[in-house]
Amino acid sequence: MSDGAASGGLELKALTKRFGSFTAADNVNLDIQRGEFLTLLGPSGSGKTTLLMMIAGFLDITGGDILLDGSSIAAVPPERRNFGMVFQGYALFPHMSVHQNIAYPLDVRRRPKAEIERRVGEMLDLVQLQEFAHRLPRQLSGGQQQRVALARALCFAPPVLLLDEPLGALDKKLRIEVQAQLKDIHQRVGTTFVYVTHDQEEALSMSDRIVIMQNGRIEQIGTPQELYQRPRTAFAAGFLGKSNFLTANGALHALRPEKIDIAPRGKGKGANRLAGTVRNATYFGSFLKYDVSVVGMDTIEVDVDAWRAGEPIAVGTEVDLSWPDGAAVRLEDN
Ligand SMILES: Nc1ncnc2c1ncn2[C@@H]1O[C@H](COP(=O)(O)OP(=O)(O)OP(=O)(O)O)[C@@H](O)[C@H]1O
Ligand SMILES: [Mg+2]
Repeated sequence: MSDGAASGGLELKALTKRFGSFTAADNVNLDIQRGEFLTLLGPSGSGKTTLLMMIAGFLDITGGDILLDGSSIAAVPPERRNFGMVFQGYALFPHMSVHQNIAYPLDVRRRPKAEIERRVGEMLDLVQLQEFAHRLPRQLSGGQQQRVALARALCFAPPVLLLDEPLGALDKKLRIEVQAQLKDIHQRVGTTFVYVTHDQEEALSMSDRIVIMQNGRIEQIGTPQELYQRPRTAFAAGFLGKSNFLTANGALHALRPEKIDIAPRGKGKGANRLAGTVRNATYFGSFLKYDVSVVGMDTIEVDVDAWRAGEPIAVGTEVDLSWPDGAAVRLEDN
């Protein structure tokens, strides 16, 4: 079932949104591939929802253009763009059954009854809620309700699905479960997903590419690996994953906590070394986090695999921190 695959390539060209004198989206240029899972990631107020609302057509654009498969849609009203949308909070109709909720967009489009039945059946299969078809939304868990919202948004085979923090209302465990289901559904339908979150783990685990936003601008675009391994700026390095910031050879560098080796003083092995003292050791189940003070620097965080590390190094122990060449990423000035 690759409904959306024939269409769904989006181009944002110098897209700008101003509210009075305030610029919420500032000259955004972005090509989104057909079938891609693209995530907009950034702090609160960075312009993620603004971009999504302009793509949806609910917000007029101040400048620039939006193209779908090469044609401008800037003047096309939202209902004719035919994009699916899913938001935080499920916005299901409370008095309608799961089946009726999913069928609703097809009813509105006056599709033939047989087609509606077939399509709702496919969607119930897709989100694995066949047995719940006749329940009301309030008789479902949060994760199940979110899957109904997803099925409703996908049932008319939109070329593009826009999702704004759809998992924001779910607790952490359920969130991770629904993330995996959502990713799986994306792969099966082939629809272009534009996904907004400010949860970095969610962005890393689900996306083909991530766009890091700050102050209405794109800070950096790349695959999860590219952004994590080669952040260009201190903002990108600090926003996606944890980083230690060090100055070396006159330039700021970011060093991920898991790339640092920690050993008793005199036993450091890496090419680059710092002498420090363990100030804190915190157990997180899968890893141990050490806070290490180094004279003349900020505290350095070191993460080690807890199971392999054995006994934690005691607080107060003098240690060598070391890392191989290339582990610290040189950042641009900004
Ligand atoms: N209708 C409006 N009038 C004035 N300013 C607005 C309006 N809508 C949004 N803004 C401002 O534009 C900026 C971007 O808002 P937006 O909702 O896009 O942020 P966001 O990245 O989605 O944040 P969050 O993670 O909190 O949802 C914010 O500073 C916001 O206050
Ligand atoms: Mg928002």
